[in-house]
Amino acid sequence: MIRKKICVANWKMNKNFIESNDFLKKITQKDLSSNSCELVICPSYDSLFLFNKLNPQLSLGAQDVSYLNSPSSTGEISVDMLTSHNCKYVIIGHSERRESLNETNESVSLKMKEIYNSQIIPILCIGEKLDEKLGKLTYKVLEKQITKAFSKINFKSEKDVLIAYEPVWAIGTGQAAGHNEIKQNMKLIKKIINNIYTNNCNIYLLYGGSVNENNASEIINIDNVDGFLIGSASLEVNSFYKIFKQL
Ligand code: PGA
Repeated sequence: MIRKKICVANWKMNKNFIESNDFLKKITQKDLSSNSCELVICPSYDSLFLFNKLNPQLSLGAQDVSYLNSPSSTGEISVDMLTSHNCKYVIIGHSERRESLNETNESVSLKMKEIYNSQIIPILCIGEKLDEKLGKLTYKVLEKQITKAFSKINFKSEKDVLIAYEPVWAIGTGQAAGHNEIKQNMKLIKKIINNIYTNNCNIYLLYGGSVNENNASEIINIDNVDGFLIGSASLEVNSFYKIFKQL
């Protein structure tokens, strides 16, 4: 069970391993001790190995995983491989992958199935697009994304699951969703989860979409927000650290 707020850096396809190493050297010189927030970095696969001997106060996550369980899957990375790097978390269903790489609710559910029975904690990304928001389809979209993602697993009470609510129109735009909108949609997500038999497993909600050092403290105080998934503002040590210190 995670009792802290969670601050996750999603580096996407930024930073080769030299740049990742540089960031890690700088951030580990800072005081990362915190009783209130867990810091998680999700670098690209080629930088996972850099974390082996790192500060225990920094957790490691991957940005994706394969749902194929046959070794004859060229170019794929398995849950077992991530486990061997001591990955604690893995992101699945990010909207950029749904958009550009044909990630579907079905493939996300297969990934969830692979992860759920491992030691790794899934970070399931969900969120509506602008036209869906304008068409008042947000509830429907979120409900489908969540129920489908969980459709192939048997919930265990001791398992942690993170759901990152990231309105697609807020990602990388510099325009985070407003206070009331986040509050309302977090409530919708809670309602959707309450309609599923989760065996009391621990589900935490993150917000993602243009989080930065100026809006972090307001957003973290919204009901049901347990942390952040951060893209752009996680790429630079000082801006990411400033967010972490507010949690
Ligand atoms: P952003 O990205 O913070 O740059 O909006 C968030 C994400 O894509 O997870």
